[in-house]
Amino acid sequence: MKAQVLFALFASLQLAYGQSSSPEIVPVPGGLNGTGITTRYWDCCKPSCGWFVPSTNVKTPVETCAANGVNPIDANAQSGCDDDGVAYMCNDQQAWVVNDTLSYGFVAASFTGGADTSQCCRCVLLSFQGRLLGKHLLAQITNTGGDLYQNHFDIAIPGGGVGLFRRGCMTQWNTTVNGWGDPITGVASENECSELPEVLQPGCDWRFEFLEGVDNPDVVFQEVECPADLIAVTKCTALS
Ligand SMILES: *[C@@H]1O[C@H](CO)[C@@H](O)[C@H](O)[C@H]1NC(C)=O
Ligand SMILES: *[C@@H]1O[C@H](CO)[C@@H](O)[C@H](O)[C@H]1NC(C)=O
Ligand SMILES: *[C@@H]1O[C@H](CO)[C@@H](O)[C@H](O)[C@H]1NC(C)=O
Repeated sequence: MKAQVLFALFASLQLAYGQSSSPEIVPVPGGLNGTGITTRYWDCCKPSCGWFVPSTNVKTPVETCAANGVNPIDANAQSGCDDDGVAYMCNDQQAWVVNDTLSYGFVAASFTGGADTSQCCRCVLLSFQGRLLGKHLLAQITNTGGDLYQNHFDIAIPGGGVGLFRRGCMTQWNTTVNGWGDPITGVASENECSELPEVLQPGCDWRFEFLEGVDNPDVVFQEVECPADLIAVTKCTALS
């Protein structure tokens, strides 16, 4: 039996017994909040919160991986997006569904406009607006970006576009220079998710299933405490 079939069976059993998952979400008093925009990316690069840099908010950095996307690699290893770099985004740092209205995942974020390392490892509840109203992504901030605007969340979605840094997915997964699909918008349909390595396909599918293929939905956001399930993936914790 395929894992997916087993999972569906398990999920329906859970529903039958009324145990659909509703984790506690704990707002941080006085935390980051406001309205924001989203984009999507998966550039395979080591995320910037994966470094120990004194000026960042990192206590323990985001775990980064060797080229197989599985084996953890030293936090001082150079990013696979740089010449001779060997550190990549770990495969499991993609979004997953918790229940029909909630997913967990990871974002690059900027509140200042530009690369904003002061918020590494914090978590935000992104409440989607418009057609996705009522759906949420509880995300840990694992990355930054010089091309990000104020209150901008770039959601880590495999096949969501490789963006500015083209070496990562080429050296890790042997993609063409444009990665999967368009370098900015990524693959155009869920069918094209099959072009990705199997291990990255669930996160690619998530865009067309949980996010219903909606292009870069707007959000309202509130800082919340990071759930243990997210920290278990990244090992990323903040100084403050
Ligand atoms: C999903 O979990 C959230 C957080 O616990 C909860 O508020 C929401 O009602 C749940 N949604 C469903 C459809 O179970
Ligand atoms: C929202 O942010 C403002 C500062 O911009 C802060 O004063 C307020 O306490 C925050 N609200 C919540 C609910 O965290
Ligand atoms: C990488 O892709 C090229 C072109 O598709 C192919 O010829 C080559 O065999 C691939 N290499 C590996 C290691 O998969």
